[in-house]
Amino acid sequence: MNITTIILAAGKGTRMRSQLPKILHKIANKTLLQHVYDMSSTLENNNITIVYGHGADQVRETLKHLDASWVEQKQQLGTGHAVQQVREQFADNDKVLILYGDVPLLKISSINKLLANVDQQTLALLTVKLDNPSGYGRIVRDAGKVKKIVEEKDASADEKLITEVNTGILAVFGGQLRKWLGQLTNNNAQGEFYLTDIIEMAVADGVDVVTSQPETTDEVLGVNNRLQLSHLERVYQLEQANLLMEQGVTLIDPSRFDLRGTIENLGQDIVCDVNVIFEGNNSIGNNVRIGPNTLIINSVIGDNVEIFANCVIENAEIGEGSRIGPYARLRPETVLADHVHIGNFVEIKKSSVAHGSKINHLSYIGDTTVGSKVNIGAGTITCNYDGVNKFRTVIGDGAFIGSDSQLVAPVTIGKNATIGAGSTITKDSPENQLTLSRVKQISIDGWQRPVKQDKLYVWTCRWNRAT
Ligand code: UD1
Ligand code: CA
Repeated sequence: MNITTIILAAGKGTRMRSQLPKILHKIANKTLLQHVYDMSSTLENNNITIVYGHGADQVRETLKHLDASWVEQKQQLGTGHAVQQVREQFADNDKVLILYGDVPLLKISSINKLLANVDQQTLALLTVKLDNPSGYGRIVRDAGKVKKIVEEKDASADEKLITEVNTGILAVFGGQLRKWLGQLTNNNAQGEFYLTDIIEMAVADGVDVVTSQPETTDEVLGVNNRLQLSHLERVYQLEQANLLMEQGVTLIDPSRFDLRGTIENLGQDIVCDVNVIFEGNNSIGNNVRIGPNTLIINSVIGDNVEIFANCVIENAEIGEGSRIGPYARLRPETVLADHVHIGNFVEIKKSSVAHGSKINHLSYIGDTTVGSKVNIGAGTITCNYDGVNKFRTVIGDGAFIGSDSQLVAPVTIGKNATIGAGSTITKDSPENQLTLSRVKQISIDGWQRPVKQDKLYVWTCRWNRAT
């Protein structure tokens, strides 16, 4: 059995008050439409068609990686008109599933329930009961059986009292849908072609309308404004936080935790303090502690790593037992072996640091290979850039770089070499030796420190000169 999923995504989203088409707004750093796509692409034998319109170029460009058919709805004349645009895209025997591109948190379990209900005699409709149903299409029943959907603007006072509403999400066989699409008119309060009119047509054709409900209302909430966007962001984040806690992660405050992506390998006994944010795809080992206010992007963190407060870590690998921060920045292509210490105000970029080395204070290490058991003193800077080209620095095992040194690349510091504090190293420094490049210290005998003259003295001198 094939499924054709039609995602309706042509609407404007005026209430977002945005230059960006609504479906390109994001939850957890992923566009609304991508959420819907990802969920529906887990269905087997499923062809996805996206009806787009508003912001057409931008939408196509941003989401060109999706494996879907794109059909443009040039004028947005209603949900029925939107589905009419794709009426040649499905076979009579396909189960056609209608989703909305701006309803991002729908769960696959709700879809599966819906699809299981569909057969040649049955249309499946997802409905929900709302305390405040205003704005939604109402499910009108007769002796318990669904009779039709009436839109808010077309509803009578009595119908407006109905609290069961249409989520817009439904599934039906392709042949039937195509037939009913041909019968739609725009003879209603909004002058639109309503997809919801097919319900009454189904009933007239002797097709049952079977309803099911999502587990939570949040699943079927659409995004129409930024308030709703932020609500669904928090719903989504809390869901992810709960999943992580179930898997053995301690979150000091689940409401101050954000996962904008995935954690591929997740160890046990990870502790995240408040305001930890993960972006992209990360991997975290066992027994990792992450301090407050830390952003971690596309990184791999080994077992027993401790990350202190206020770090930014991107495309980095951190080996077992290492300690990072507070206030450290690991930039892309940083690879730290095990038991490495990176301290406060240290920036590392495109560099590898071998076992047991320490860079504890105020340093910039870029395009560098650091050996094992190296100690890099406070304020060390690798000068890797001449304004045009980048050069590498190599620091051998066991080297000791004195504080406030500059290593001007390309340059190699030999094994167990010592660099005297305050040196500017421009030539390779041999193994096992002390190398330094500072002006020799001198002391001047009998030198007089200038003396500050007090104001009365200065005034008296002037007075004397003048008289
Ligand atoms: C629709 C339903 C209503 C339901 C509500 C749930 C109809 C007539 N009404 O109303 O019963 O309670 O959703 O949220 O179906 N779209 C297009 N092209 C168009 C019009 C809409 O692609 O010409 C897309 C929108 O981008 C959106 C979805 O269809 O993703 C729903 O459109 P919207 O205007 O929000 O429908 P409502 O009037 O809220
Ligand atoms: Ca809507």
